[in-house]
Amino acid sequence: MSKLWSGLASGAIDAAAEDFNRSIRVDSRMYRQDILGSVAHARMLAAQNIITGEDAEAIVNGLNAILSDLEAGTLKIDTEAEDIHTFVEQTLTERIGEPGKRLHTARSRNDQVALDTRLYLRERAETTAGLLKELVRTLCRRAEETRDMVMPGYTHMQRAQPVTMGHHLMAYAMMFVRDLGRLRDAVKRMNVSPIGCCALAGTTYPTDRAMEAELLGFEAVAENSLDGVSDRDFCVELAACLALTMTHLSRFSEEIVLWSSWEFRFIRLSDAYSTGSSIMPQKKNPDMAELTRGKTGRVYGDLMALLTVLKGLPLAYNKDMQEDKELIFDAFDTVDACLTVAAPMLGTAVFLPENMRRAAAEGFINATDLADWLVGRGMPFRTAYKLTGELVAECTARGTTLEELPLEVYRAKSQLFDRELYDAINIDNCLMRRTSYGGPAPESVERQIEYVLELIQ
Ligand code: ARG
Repeated sequence: MSKLWSGLASGAIDAAAEDFNRSIRVDSRMYRQDILGSVAHARMLAAQNIITGEDAEAIVNGLNAILSDLEAGTLKIDTEAEDIHTFVEQTLTERIGEPGKRLHTARSRNDQVALDTRLYLRERAETTAGLLKELVRTLCRRAEETRDMVMPGYTHMQRAQPVTMGHHLMAYAMMFVRDLGRLRDAVKRMNVSPIGCCALAGTTYPTDRAMEAELLGFEAVAENSLDGVSDRDFCVELAACLALTMTHLSRFSEEIVLWSSWEFRFIRLSDAYSTGSSIMPQKKNPDMAELTRGKTGRVYGDLMALLTVLKGLPLAYNKDMQEDKELIFDAFDTVDACLTVAAPMLGTAVFLPENMRRAAAEGFINATDLADWLVGRGMPFRTAYKLTGELVAECTARGTTLEELPLEVYRAKSQLFDRELYDAINIDNCLMRRTSYGGPAPESVERQIEYVLELIQ
């Protein structure tokens, strides 16, 4: 395939340099957006009498035929072409002749690539939003099932106070719902058409940018032609959204790894979402969760690389910008792959409530409740805190729990104690009473589920 730019240049480009320059391996996935953009461009050119109606018809039919041949697999993308824009335009001209050569009027690959990338990423964001919603739905479903399942809540990885698995899962639902919101915000801001900015300085042809934007579903047109071709903020914003989603997925994965370990045994992963060891027959490894945690670094890297590619660029287009697609595509591919396994991995896991309850019983997670009970009997909190600490130490020395410590031991510390204290420190009671807004009591978890499901409608 020859170069689109072989006018001035008379010498041939070195083969290694040509390959180095090529972006077809990365941008060929935008073939549909490239064709749809060109269809809109041809229609606009004809509407403005820049090309004839017949030429536009020939171009549009030719482009549609290329699209269906590519989708049917009867036309293969030539990986020797410089980029997808070159491939589509040259294939069109080979097929329809002269009219094909008129398509690139009042256009440059600079506004074309910016257009294709926005169109492509707009769709990718939609797909990722769908996957995020699926994960949130799964979290809500599992939270509903586990809203009464007591487990220890942790701070510093030390058992702290009682929560439920449902409450814990809903904390993740909140994160992923925010991710969804961020993605939607980024899409709103990126839905601006760069086409018609041309190489950098607009054009002398009487183009109708608004028409082209409308045909392609954009909300607005870029107001400044230099900015229109140079702006890659949308790539950075999307990468930042995706990086934060990976942070959330990675934290969640870490919990899955912990919970499925022999030390915790709060969940058992389905065979469909875990692997065995080639040597240790007893192993069931949480590979999906670990890989997700590991892939987080890639997406952070994509964000950092994008920022770095852009930071020293003078206006307008510079070839450095060709690097943007590989990075943002990788970020989307990675996040989508992680989300695709995260939802069913959670959906098929078996929760082990006896183990959670045992961990809850052994962790003195009702100590705050005991102190609060003493406060209810008139003791100042600081005094109650100290006394409860002494009782916990007593339990540890005797190898017992606050629930099992005899009343005499309590009364030896304070005459305020009576049998009622046992009700106050019963783990289920401790949980049920945590009805403060946003708290772990089942009715509060129920409200959280409703709130989240409403948001993802
Ligand atoms: N392949 C190029 C890219 O991805 C397309 C734009 C080329 N423009 C140019 N002036 N060489 O950025």
